[in-house]
Amino acid sequence: MRGISIFAGSVYGNAQHVAEEVQAMLEAEAVESEVFTDPTLDDFINSESIVVITSTTGQGDIPPNLELFYAELSEQSPMMNGKRFLIAALGDSSYGDTYCGGGRQFNELLNKLQGKPVADMLEVDAIETLSPEDEVVPFIKKHIDALVG
Ligand SMILES: Cc1cc2nc3c(=O)[nH]c(=O)nc-3n(C[C@H](O)[C@H](O)[C@H](O)COP(=O)(O)O)c2cc1C
Repeated sequence: MRGISIFAGSVYGNAQHVAEEVQAMLEAEAVESEVFTDPTLDDFINSESIVVITSTTGQGDIPPNLELFYAELSEQSPMMNGKRFLIAALGDSSYGDTYCGGGRQFNELLNKLQGKPVADMLEVDAIETLSPEDEVVPFIKKHIDALVG
């Protein structure tokens, strides 16, 4: 699609809620977007620019709703050729080494596929904030032009 494709990985709904808030902000800014919670590889390939908003589960793991998508992406490795992306990772620093592991895995993969990060991955710590959308929405908003410009 034209505009921004938002891939949301969530177990208990936090990251999904954040993705919906980001979409509402983009709509207010007249930027087209779609939230994918059960994406296919084609959704990824057909994206103009990409936002991944994902929590972490298990021990540094990607939420189940994006697991298959991540595995396919990793296996098929469709090159991004400079396609722009941003990642916001929701995590909890009390998990230590696996902090924001889901986001880190996507960050590594999209860089490997030669996507172009328009900013460093944002990490949102559940210990620090109960409202991750208050950090993620302004982060995405700040980079809209770089993402779709
Ligand atoms: C069972 C479980 C395992 C978790 N494992 C990690 C982890 O390894 N690293 C991390 O940074 N956060 C971890 N978290 C924290 C979540 O990523 C964080 O609470 C996030 O806000 C949940 O968002 P969600 O509702 O979208 O899944 C874990 C949470 C739970 C309940």
